[in-house]
Amino acid sequence: MATIFIPQEQAAGERRVAATPASVAKLRRTGIEVAVASGAGSAARCSDDDYVAAGARIAEASAVGDAEVVARVAPPSLEEVAELASGTVLLSFIAPHRNLDVVAALAERGVTTLAMELVPRISRAQAIDALSSQANISGYRAVITAAYELDKYFPLFMTAAGTIKPATLVVLGAGVAGLQAVATGRRLGAVVKVSDIRAAAKQEVASLGGTFIDIPSDEDLTGEGGYAKEAGEDFLTRQRRILSEHLSTAHAAITTAQIPGRPAPLLLTTEMVEAMPPGAVVIDLAAADGGNCELTETDRVVEHQGVRVLPGHELASTMPSEASTMYGNNIAAFVELFVADGTLELDLEDEVVAGALLTHDGEVVHDRTADLLRGGER
Ligand code: NAI
Repeated sequence: MATIFIPQEQAAGERRVAATPASVAKLRRTGIEVAVASGAGSAARCSDDDYVAAGARIAEASAVGDAEVVARVAPPSLEEVAELASGTVLLSFIAPHRNLDVVAALAERGVTTLAMELVPRISRAQAIDALSSQANISGYRAVITAAYELDKYFPLFMTAAGTIKPATLVVLGAGVAGLQAVATGRRLGAVVKVSDIRAAAKQEVASLGGTFIDIPSDEDLTGEGGYAKEAGEDFLTRQRRILSEHLSTAHAAITTAQIPGRPAPLLLTTEMVEAMPPGAVVIDLAAADGGNCELTETDRVVEHQGVRVLPGHELASTMPSEASTMYGNNIAAFVELFVADGTLELDLEDEVVAGALLTHDGEVVHDRTADLLRGGER
């Protein structure tokens, strides 16, 4: 019988875990043995006893080298790669474009890496789509954080003591996180304005009660797989000008705009932040990829002329229990694709496996990452 190992996450700020007792039960149905590092689920409120009750065994951290499959959340460090046995199947977020040294080490080690962010966004892979499951949490949590940080009501208040106008929230990027932010912001009663470059976003925003900010463009910037294409400098300049008008009356901005595998587009310049009213907050979900806001720093809140800019790339980890529940289910659904009766049968021709495959047999097989490793442009 093959074994899947669930390590304790070591990355700073990472409180999620790649399996919960509920997902262990799902994994066990494929016949795979589940070994969980002692204490791996503690930050996500999963105890060793709960894992054992669900059918897992508790193991030492060093058992990672004995497992055929390893599932984790955050990209491994180089030290963690060195602990993997050659031929291990690794399921994890990798952020390949930011961690080229780790990708090279995984290939060199002979690890078969299935990168969770490369899983194709096709219907058949919806249950495996960890980008979506985690972005939903980030989008929700970003609004709750903005509401908490703001010294102003989100909803309209009409009382005998006076009327308070609702807050205005600007959401930049209406993908999974952005749309969840729109829905959450609307539920809290804010006026929500949204910008995105994909044509389809306009209708989705309207259906959630948001107002779409039109940026005139000759081309639809929808790219492959429904993702955004990289907008040209012309478009971005026009977008910044139009957004500045809306930001001058906004109390909060949540930025989520990303281009897969590339630095995030710069949408909020310092000048635009300066145009926001004092007391406003910016939450930048794209912080790990350079940020949508020029002032964003990944490890601290920046205060600039009365506006606070918060990094939001780790927001999913602030709800570790539910984030792990969903991520664990994504992992279990992926394992169901290639394990039956406790035996691994990885079909490299399968569209989902082929899409997610980053390293295999000593090679980096994902074209764009291989190109970056050869010194290609980011
Ligand atoms: P993402 O995290 O890569 O980007 C977030 C948003 O930023 C996107 O909507 C993108 O259009 C937008 N953006 C990029 N550059 C921008 C700019 N300069 N200004 C404003 N917005 C900008 O995207 P995410 O959330 O991972 O998904 C994007 C799309 O992928 C979805 O809306 C959908 O079309 C597709 N998708 C399909 C799924 C499925 O069919 N199973 C599941 C999830 C997503």
